[in-house]
Amino acid sequence: RHRVLSGIQPTADSFHLGNYLGALAQWVPLQDEFDAFYFIPDLHAITVPQDPKELRRRTKVAAAQLLALGIDPAKSTLFVQSQVPEHAQLAWVLNCITGFGEASRMTQFKDKSAKQGTEAATVGLFTYPVLMAADILLYRPQRVPVGEDQRQHLEMARDLAQRFNSRFGKSFVIPEAQMIKGTSKIYDLQDPTSKMSKSAASEAGLINLLDDPKVSAKRIKSAVTDNEREIRFDREAKPGVSNLLTIQSALSGRSVDDLVRGYEGKGYGDLKSDTADVLVDFVTPLKAKVDGYLADPAELDRILEAGAERAREVSSRTLATVYDKVGFLPQK
Ligand code: TYM
Repeated sequence: RHRVLSGIQPTADSFHLGNYLGALAQWVPLQDEFDAFYFIPDLHAITVPQDPKELRRRTKVAAAQLLALGIDPAKSTLFVQSQVPEHAQLAWVLNCITGFGEASRMTQFKDKSAKQGTEAATVGLFTYPVLMAADILLYRPQRVPVGEDQRQHLEMARDLAQRFNSRFGKSFVIPEAQMIKGTSKIYDLQDPTSKMSKSAASEAGLINLLDDPKVSAKRIKSAVTDNEREIRFDREAKPGVSNLLTIQSALSGRSVDDLVRGYEGKGYGDLKSDTADVLVDFVTPLKAKVDGYLADPAELDRILEAGAERAREVSSRTLATVYDKVGFLPQK
């Protein structure tokens, strides 16, 4: 069976709608077809300052959310990155074949370090995409289901895999990004030309899956649109309306064209309240499910321990090959 792998950071109290529609919505069906590895990259989380207690709690909340959204530990290997030491070990080797200039060109690093200032930005943030390449290459997956903002990181993982293979002999599979057409970039409700992100200036444009559904409905109803009245999909001219159509379409399973036809003669108020309704239906049962998983911490730990053990069976084999190829003495 072919393999898929992906990760989501534990850096907030809740995943947001962009995470779900861009990435997580494909994780669940993929676990039926593929040998799936899904993990929570807590090593990546500390590339920016974290409160240790919060990080530990959020890692558990992240795992509970993945289970609540339908990741089934009987089908998928679900684990936490720091519990699998091979990630950090392979990252070091890959750091040593990554060009300084190459890493400097990563747009996410440039954006984040510009925001923090070069003195505050850490070397960990700089080398973040190399760790991400290690995450991926260890498991030799064919596909990596992610949103659009990870495309450049995926390219770098492919480049590093090819470089290592040609320098030391074939060790890695060249992975491909897998994106959902239409939802690989969900936009901020208040600023619909920027991606939805937890680090946006205002929370008003963000939909958190675990927020009170009433708050989320209000945010949808206050979404920025435009001065026309016509409901049609046009990403350039009508980014706000197009984003709402995308969200409603993805959550309802109806095509954008079908929705647009239904809105003939109707207004933005209808579009917003219908979108709010499907969103509320989707998020309402989630919080109780997440709380259910959190209420049994021993079971959650057990799932993650089993996941880490299974992950290590695969990752330790890849790492042993790599260590051998670069010329390290055998491990005891
Ligand atoms: P993270 O935690 O920021 O986001 C998790 C996933 O959500 C997607 N995403 C979006 N998709 C559509 N619209 C949006 N507005 C939106 N915002 C986020 C992201 O593309 C991602 O797929 N570096 C990764 C985590 C990671 C990883 C990996 C992923 C670490 N190692 C190995 C894949 C493979 C990240 O920070 O994603």
